[in-house]
Amino acid sequence: MKITMLGSGAWGTALANLLCENGHAVTLWTRSPEKAAAMACSRVNPRLQGVMLHAALEITADLDSVAQSDMVVFATPSYAIAETARLVRDRLPSRAILVSVTKGIEPETGLRMTEILTRETGRVAVALSGPSHAEEVSRNMPTGCVAACEQVALAETVQDAFMNDTFRVYASVDVVGVELSAAMKNVIALCAGISDGLGLGDNSKALLVTRGLTELARLGLALGGRMETFSGLAGVGDMIVTCTSMHSRNRRAGILIGQGVTVDKAMEQVGAVVEGYYAARSAYQLSRCTGVDMPICREAYQVLYEGANPRTAVVHLMQREKKHEFEDSSWS
Ligand SMILES: NC(=O)c1ccc[n+]([C@@H]2O[C@H](COP(=O)([O-])OP(=O)(O)OC[C@H]3O[C@@H](n4cnc5c(N)ncnc54)[C@H](O)[C@@H]3O)[C@@H](O)[C@H]2O)c1
Repeated sequence: MKITMLGSGAWGTALANLLCENGHAVTLWTRSPEKAAAMACSRVNPRLQGVMLHAALEITADLDSVAQSDMVVFATPSYAIAETARLVRDRLPSRAILVSVTKGIEPETGLRMTEILTRETGRVAVALSGPSHAEEVSRNMPTGCVAACEQVALAETVQDAFMNDTFRVYASVDVVGVELSAAMKNVIALCAGISDGLGLGDNSKALLVTRGLTELARLGLALGGRMETFSGLAGVGDMIVTCTSMHSRNRRAGILIGQGVTVDKAMEQVGAVVEGYYAARSAYQLSRCTGVDMPICREAYQVLYEGANPRTAVVHLMQREKKHEFEDSSWS
């Protein structure tokens, strides 16, 4: 297959290398000609330290390869996916399958990443998500992800393109559940980092992660996701990896905030896209417009956007009225 990878951050680069290893003809697009030239010459990407770029990987700052592509993968930060889709929409051949590996929700509209791609291009798109740090995938450490699309044949084509002996891909038709999990777990990872930065313990983090998953599932069900997705790789799986690993920039940003660093400085120090920051605003807005109760996301929003003190946020969460763990037959 001919594949164009749009976005040359850590994740786009790791997946471009993987697709080359799988025998595809891959072009990695970066918007900066200087960066493209530097990567083509050095065969490394500073965003993915210690990893050589595959010898067959083409690197470019122009979009010519899109017109010849069987698959176009969007790996930009969430805030850039719409503008990137607009850049390529007139070049897309009708056979090209669109894939999003970006994790986020558009704050202004509440749209998921594949919904943005459909809005901008008129095409159905597949979401690929799961517990998958670029640093580990690029070193061929066993990893599992989910390719999700309402059109199962498209999900299975993406499964076939990405799957190999160290990267296992499951197909799913629950694109709603997979993409909401991808976006919302980053908010909880930020909170898990804040908890660590405050010096709270393992009990606190387990409480946060478990109730965070409850919030995510509650919102996901209200928006049409399937229950089993939230206990699968894209749900629990990604929640575990992102709330416990130092590879998670969301968690690292949270640790700094918990230690008293301002939100702006924490984002600056992490130096890569912290999707949980943007997703916290989207979660807050979705919670308000759907009426789904999401107390952890609400407190995260107050800390990140309203200057609330993280310790006060913990007090608010712990002093909420008593409840049953499961208030109805599903997760509440
Ligand atoms: N890093 C991971 O392990 C990982 C794993 C799974 C999913 N993701 C998701 O993939 C997406 C990208 O993450 P990343 O880790 O590659 O980010 P990154 O911070 O490493 O890189 C972001 C890249 O996007 C580029 N960029 C910024 N603004 C842009 C714009 N307007 N147009 C085009 N490109 C632009 C930057 O130049 C940079 O190359 C995020 O949504 C992230 O949540 C990342």
